[in-house]
Amino acid sequence: MENLKNFVIQTAKKQKPEFEKIISGFEDRGILNSEMLAVCAVAEELHVEVFIESGRWLGQSTEVLSRYFENKPVLIESVEVFRDENAIHVENKMKGKKNLNLLYGDANTIVPALVKKHKGKKIAILFDGPKGSSAIDIFRLALIYSDTVVAGFFHDMRKPLENMLNGSRAAMEDVFPNSFYTDDEDFVQEFSMLDRNCEVALWRPYSIDNKKIGSYGPTIGLTLPTSEDIQKAQMEKFSLLIKTWRRFLFTLGVKTYHWFCRI
Ligand SMILES: C[S@@+](CC[C@H](N)C(=O)[O-])C[C@H]1O[C@@H](n2cnc3c(N)ncnc32)[C@H](O)[C@@H]1O
Repeated sequence: MENLKNFVIQTAKKQKPEFEKIISGFEDRGILNSEMLAVCAVAEELHVEVFIESGRWLGQSTEVLSRYFENKPVLIESVEVFRDENAIHVENKMKGKKNLNLLYGDANTIVPALVKKHKGKKIAILFDGPKGSSAIDIFRLALIYSDTVVAGFFHDMRKPLENMLNGSRAAMEDVFPNSFYTDDEDFVQEFSMLDRNCEVALWRPYSIDNKKIGSYGPTIGLTLPTSEDIQKAQMEKFSLLIKTWRRFLFTLGVKTYHWFCRI
């Protein structure tokens, strides 16, 4: 963990000047700038060639990724489950971006399919929907389909508090004991000034909706998978497949319900 922490902080320090040039504006419910700095800097340092993003909403993280990796040999495959007015807003905003594909589908099936499609290339995956165990299961399935998945980033990994529960952090620490979180005190001290213009509804440092939370912010958890992680995932392949397919069928049910409600 100490090695990973040093790696992330040093890498983020190195890329901060470049990152500062590409941030402007902020979409509600977006990932904080300091958190996205960790994502972009680590992916660049690892020479990622394909960046898969799951969960787009109004496209804050999508835009940061696209701007940061513009003119670099990185393809961004962005996945969103619903094509609603938010999705159309992002389509219009990102029109003409050559390094970005805006895709639609459920992450449970589309993310593993993308990983298979880009097998052999260095891949990083950012999950901001689905979250927690659902995201971790998809990521572990991805590890089985390609041994060149070099990084996983998971949003909303804040520490739980008594009245602000969050099981995601424990789930991630359990599966990936060697992981780093952007609520680390040294990371926050070094990079939180990047968040001064981040208008995330209801979020303030260490609180959401005036309720204290266990971390500085929503928090990115990151892991660089090892061969041991791949082996463990392979041993659990069957149960990972069942869980992701069950969740896919659930999402399909929700989408069908929405479709019927509209007609
Ligand atoms: C918090 S928002 C993402 C915010 C975005 N990353 C940003 O920085 O602006 C979560 C998004 O994940 C999407 N989502 C949730 N479950 C999903 C799934 N199973 N597959 C694909 N997208 C999903 C939601 O529809 C929503 O748009």
